[in-house]
Amino acid sequence: MHAYTLPRPVGRGVPVRAAEAQPASGMAADAGDEGREFAWTQADFSRVRSLIYQRAGISLHEGKHAMVYSRLSRRLRETGHSSFHGYLGWLESGDGPEWQEFVNALTTNLTAFFREQHHFEVLSALLRTRPAGPWSVWCNAASTGEEPYSIVMTALESLSPQSQFKLTASDIDSRVLATAARGVYRLDGLKGLSQDRLQRFFMRGKGVNAGLARVRPELRRAIEFLSVNLVRDDWPFREPFDAVFCRNVMIYFDAPTQRRVLERMHRVLKPGGLLFVGHAENFSDARDLFALRGKTVYERL
Ligand SMILES: C[S@@+](CC[C@H](N)C(=O)[O-])C[C@H]1O[C@@H](n2cnc3c(N)ncnc32)[C@H](O)[C@@H]1O
Repeated sequence: MHAYTLPRPVGRGVPVRAAEAQPASGMAADAGDEGREFAWTQADFSRVRSLIYQRAGISLHEGKHAMVYSRLSRRLRETGHSSFHGYLGWLESGDGPEWQEFVNALTTNLTAFFREQHHFEVLSALLRTRPAGPWSVWCNAASTGEEPYSIVMTALESLSPQSQFKLTASDIDSRVLATAARGVYRLDGLKGLSQDRLQRFFMRGKGVNAGLARVRPELRRAIEFLSVNLVRDDWPFREPFDAVFCRNVMIYFDAPTQRRVLERMHRVLKPGGLLFVGHAENFSDARDLFALRGKTVYERL
């Protein structure tokens, strides 16, 4: 890996946190009623559950009390509220920027480079059928960027040098999207990558950036980062995609929400286009829209 120098970190001093270290994915131990800093009732939980369902389609089950309490307690501290009742009332009274923070706090952003490796083999085989392109791919629920950069690495390895390949990467969470666009990762998170890929696609940080690596501009240039809420009917796409990655996000949605998202996904994919989904996701009920073509890979009918 070649060396590079990043601007000095600003703000809290750490330019990028690995997905696992994001506050949004942290699971706190149940503090228990007595040990809690803020009063927390079933009514508070039900209210949060209904708000995040309306905003992001995320279904929270009863087992998520401790997680929700822990993640939103930080929001109470940051916004100076002393109770959930007060915080939620304030949130609902307007349409301000706290809504984005509320959503950011409740998303789970776990991801990794080349997660579910077999998908990248299928993608590579697909791209090699038309090495000069053009290709247009959408990676939604892209989290902190490991997935979209894995897609672009696969494209650069599979296509001819002057090929046209465009990736749209999106998420509902503004904080992870900013991390993705920055493209700076801890070396720990790159352990699974081959030496060839590290050498070709990353630059190692020096000095204050030791222990970090930044993706090379050629990766970054292939991606447009956008904020897209999968459960809103305002997706900003005009041209259909050749392939869509929608992995490990539909597990948070209930069946009617999944169906609505799949119908929209069908509209933005070309006939014959591929839909890659997560290992725990099964859309065989939507066989009027998609046909299973491999392990968690569907073809748009
Ligand atoms: C567990 S991560 C999956 C990351 C990546 N796709 C992967 O498989 O490694 C789920 C992502 O879905 C995003 N998400 C949750 N609800 C969403 C919604 N309604 N619209 C778009 N993204 C959403 C979260 O912000 C989070 O980054």
